[in-house]
Amino acid sequence: MPPLNETPRLKQLEDFAGRLRALGVYPEIPVVDGAATEPVIEVDGEDYLLFCSNNLLGMSSHPEVKAAAGAAVEKYGLGSGGSRMMAANMDVHVRLEARIAEFLGRESAICFTTGYMANVGTIPALMKMNFLASLDLADMARDFAEMRRDWRQSAPWDVFSEEANHASGVDGIRLSRATPHIYGHKDMAELEAALEASAGDAKLIISDGVFSMDGDIAPVPEMVKLAKQHAALVMIDDAHGIGVLGTNGRGTLEHHGVDPDGVEILMGTFTKAFGGIGGFVAGKQALIDYLRISARTYIFSAPLPPAIAAGLIASVDIVSREPWRREKALESAALFRNEVQASGFDTLGSETHIIPVLIGREDDARRVTEELHRRNIIAPNVRFPAVPVGRSRIRFVMTSSHTREQINYLLKSLKEIKSQLNP
Ligand SMILES: Cc1ncc(COP(=O)(O)O)c(C=O)c1O
Repeated sequence: MPPLNETPRLKQLEDFAGRLRALGVYPEIPVVDGAATEPVIEVDGEDYLLFCSNNLLGMSSHPEVKAAAGAAVEKYGLGSGGSRMMAANMDVHVRLEARIAEFLGRESAICFTTGYMANVGTIPALMKMNFLASLDLADMARDFAEMRRDWRQSAPWDVFSEEANHASGVDGIRLSRATPHIYGHKDMAELEAALEASAGDAKLIISDGVFSMDGDIAPVPEMVKLAKQHAALVMIDDAHGIGVLGTNGRGTLEHHGVDPDGVEILMGTFTKAFGGIGGFVAGKQALIDYLRISARTYIFSAPLPPAIAAGLIASVDIVSREPWRREKALESAALFRNEVQASGFDTLGSETHIIPVLIGREDDARRVTEELHRRNIIAPNVRFPAVPVGRSRIRFVMTSSHTREQINYLLKSLKEIKSQLNP
């Protein structure tokens, strides 16, 4: 047998990566020595300013959060030891779920190990609910093969998904048997037409609350109105909104003043405003009880390590009692957005702490990243296939920890670099 690295398939992979490297588009990501969550990080012994961390409110390194996580390592050890459905259903997980549900003003919540897993587990589970509800539970001895056949023959859901949704929502839909209908970015007329054209009687509208690449906010009130008219459920992935938007940090719905009952499924992540890792879904008790027995990423994977869960409870407490953190992040974002626009850059539709600076050409975007790096600023560019060709951008994220001085240095650097780009 030839050595593994000489088999033709692996050779194809090697050639593909090699071609990307030759074109200079293979992502060469710097290795950070130490924390990668703070405004100043260390790479190869030098300090760099970082404007792309999602540690939005400084929670990752907050002393109370670290103390809670440290104490939990002492109490529980490192790992969780298995699935919540087996031995690893710990008090600390239950407390975290109760705390995030309370923070969001929802009846109940379920946690997943990442936000990605929350979406990939929840969406296919939702798409099975009418099939499962129709099962005759008295007939528990049913043959699995027969059940699978009935499932495949059952009417699929219609899912209406916004074109800029995060990959985890897209993958959740791909893993379900739903019929997807993709509508244009914030295009409520297209959503309405798609809902009207749908003959099915099970419908779900899915949208991000804050769009991760453009930093703009979804028109949730219009979506909720259309959902009522067409008897559809609404799921909002508010990974970027929760903790930051709204008077109490409850996210996009609070920002818009939307009645929480209009959005039956609210998804979020602990990775951003709360500075840790993990995902959650919040809603009515019946929804959460159902997800615990049907979301495969909850059932067949290990939950959050207990120390992370303990640190997150402290983090939610701080985010709840210190609104100045979200206010400062949003103020810094407004300042940066206004000034970078005044220098002639397009920030697309950004309304939040996520601020894309449109560069356009792929080679120019690479040049901007390199020039910023020369000035000790780390800001990766986002290019095709993450965004359409010719729409390359640098995506900046403003946090509560950035100082005015750091933002001014970034603005000055961008102004200098602009003159070197293609007209
Ligand atoms: C909108 C959105 N949803 C879900 C996720 C996935 O969250 P996590 O990083 O917790 O897996 C992300 C991550 O960037 C996101 O931007």
